[in-house]
Amino acid sequence: MIIRFNFALNGVIQMDGYYWDSKFNYLSKTRWLYYNDDYLNFLLTNVWKITSPVRIIDFGCGYGYLGTKLLPLLPEGSTYTGVDAGGKLIEHAKEIFQQAPFKTEFILGDIQEMDFNQQYDIVVCHAFLLHVENPREILQKMTDCLVDRGRIICFETHWISNMASYYLDGIYPSDMVQLGFLQELFERDTQRSGKDGNVGIKVPIYLSRLGVRQIECRVSDRVNFLDPNCAAEKNNELYNSLKEDGFGADPGEEKLFITNLLNRGATFDEAQKEFMLESFLSKVFSKDVFLTYSPNMKITTGIIER
Ligand SMILES: C[S@@+](CC[C@H](N)C(=O)[O-])C[C@H]1O[C@@H](n2cnc3c(N)ncnc32)[C@H](O)[C@@H]1O
Repeated sequence: MIIRFNFALNGVIQMDGYYWDSKFNYLSKTRWLYYNDDYLNFLLTNVWKITSPVRIIDFGCGYGYLGTKLLPLLPEGSTYTGVDAGGKLIEHAKEIFQQAPFKTEFILGDIQEMDFNQQYDIVVCHAFLLHVENPREILQKMTDCLVDRGRIICFETHWISNMASYYLDGIYPSDMVQLGFLQELFERDTQRSGKDGNVGIKVPIYLSRLGVRQIECRVSDRVNFLDPNCAAEKNNELYNSLKEDGFGADPGEEKLFITNLLNRGATFDEAQKEFMLESFLSKVFSKDVFLTYSPNMKITTGIIER
């Protein structure tokens, strides 16, 4: 699972239901690995300087992660609208925000099929664009729902930079992660499916081409440190979240794993080596090792001027 999502498994409807509806646990246990709360506060207050109430819409909101983080930091009177195709995730979101002291609305639907009026001050997305085949068109939809001088903010993945940012004590990084192979794998995935795990680093360019101005891009701040010398509870929580995020996961049955990579354009040798590295990692990764890991999300913002 260190090779990140296989987009082919990430289809909208599967035999056992909508893929993301079964991922509440993953979503709720992993988001905190990306940002420190004080950094999000710093962005809202010192960088984007949001001082009056705003109407926010969150594309691909899941259970409303961004709402839970941003809304408490926003001026009173701000509102939050979440849109997602996962019925169960939307139900979770409604439950989570039931007692919230701000106005919220959750819309169930496929964003590809939806049109939005120019009625929001801020449009956001988090780890969403990488799951659509047409990120540029979706960015256009996002800017279309903004009022004049509205702000777009995209928190998106940059997988290859993420993959380069693990250090497990005592192990050469190249014995865990084949960066060159992964770089090509991700590029081929994008060529084939349109879905792009590295979309975060491209969003500034896409937005500029769509006429967005005052574009700025930052990187997520958090560097996670698994430290066997710290309190066991804290260490366990981080270890469990890293496992949920896929780090050190059992790669499963060898033949299936290799076939899957061959279907994604890997050579047999590359696929076999990847299997060996992931098996090795799943055996050495435990609560008793030192690990540092920086997810390296890219946070891009800009203003739409009509
Ligand atoms: C990785 S999850 C991120 C969820 C949330 N933003 C978070 O970070 O916790 C991607 C989300 O995008 C949603 N999604 C993907 N394609 C969609 C579409 N076409 N319409 C609506 N939602 C979509 C999925 O249902 C899923 O909840």
